[in-house]
Amino acid sequence: MDLSQQNSNFLHKFGIINYKNFMNPKMTITDAAVSLGQTKAWVASLLTERDFPYFKTNGLIYFEHETARRFFQFSFTPRVIVFQIVKGGTGKTSLVYEFAIRASLYGARVLCVDMDQQGNLTHAFNQDAEGLPVMIDVLVDNHPFESSIVQVAPGIDLLPSRFENAMLDEVLRLKNLPLDLVYREPLQGLKKHYDVIVVDCPPSLGQSVAACALSADYLLAPVTPEKFALSGLDIAYQSLEELQESFNLSISFGVVLNKFESRTTLSQNALKYLQKSPKYKNKLLKNCIRSSQEFPKVIAGNGSIFDALKPTTAKEDVDHLTRDLLEIAPPLQPIFSTPKKTLAQSLLTRSSPYLKRKKASTKEFNLE
Ligand SMILES: Nc1ncnc2c1ncn2[C@@H]1O[C@H](COP(=O)(O)OP(=O)(O)OP(=O)(O)O)[C@@H](O)[C@H]1O
Ligand SMILES: [Mg+2]
Repeated sequence: MDLSQQNSNFLHKFGIINYKNFMNPKMTITDAAVSLGQTKAWVASLLTERDFPYFKTNGLIYFEHETARRFFQFSFTPRVIVFQIVKGGTGKTSLVYEFAIRASLYGARVLCVDMDQQGNLTHAFNQDAEGLPVMIDVLVDNHPFESSIVQVAPGIDLLPSRFENAMLDEVLRLKNLPLDLVYREPLQGLKKHYDVIVVDCPPSLGQSVAACALSADYLLAPVTPEKFALSGLDIAYQSLEELQESFNLSISFGVVLNKFESRTTLSQNALKYLQKSPKYKNKLLKNCIRSSQEFPKVIAGNGSIFDALKPTTAKEDVDHLTRDLLEIAPPLQPIFSTPKKTLAQSLLTRSSPYLKRKKASTKEFNLE
């Protein structure tokens, strides 16, 4: 058993542990300090004082999921978050993957569910779903949902996918399975084991994608600054409205603008459109994800943007997304306004009102 497995206090009770040492996500003490509005020295002294495991490379200090869990002690409200839009290539898989990793670095226990027969999320975690049960096996052979889950990184579990999931629509129809319950019941039931469950959908519409939407507490549509992506957004929004009405469910809806380039007219127009649209202006996340070559560099089993120690715009943007989705509040007041000891103690108290505070409601864009 390697060190990361030994450190994990969440050895999965159902599934297989399937770490492959291809990724090594890190929370730097600089990032932790910024997240808490503290100084690096404060974070470092707390790590030492509490004897939490950390690492040092080239003078830079970082820690991993297990320490993050003990260090931050955030109190999460478990949610099922579904990334969905009919348009392909808008960044659903990249954002699910990087969000899951960043969330685990804030100490969250994350379940990723790959519902796309392309299996891109499964490959991103360097998993081969051949021989592993996937959703189609759950539906056809009544395979227990939980036994399909594998642990892929400290704090991150995955329900993988493979090509056979292309038959999901057909099976749901032939078996006449209730769309509002078929995924919702197992996923909502799993909230007792996870802080967040995140679902990556294929770029299509159909029974299975509808059932994914119906399993959500929050449906997030990543859009890119292109005409077709914005049309895809209308379709996603409209179909969610119809599903909510048909099944009498209330599901929150959000939009995140991905591949944003502040210098292009296309990006600026897309942003203006979303900010002014009566339908979307209140649904738009306050931070865009800027276009960055860091994303294509790491997908397909080469690790995560959070493996590197150097700061990048990609890391900054995914961090904002993660804090929005996990409802982690913006930084504290500067350290000097509060006695050090009191803050350190409150940080280590699970019921700390500071850690439970909600995010500010400002709707500004945090762009270059
Ligand atoms: N912010 C970004 N900047 C630059 N490239 C990005 C960004 N986000 C995603 N990409 C790249 O865009 C491509 C498509 O991304 P991704 O596969 O995540 O989209 P998707 O919506 O999941 O696609 P599909 O609909 O086929 O499942 C990938 O090469 C990815 O690396
Ligand atoms: Mg995808």
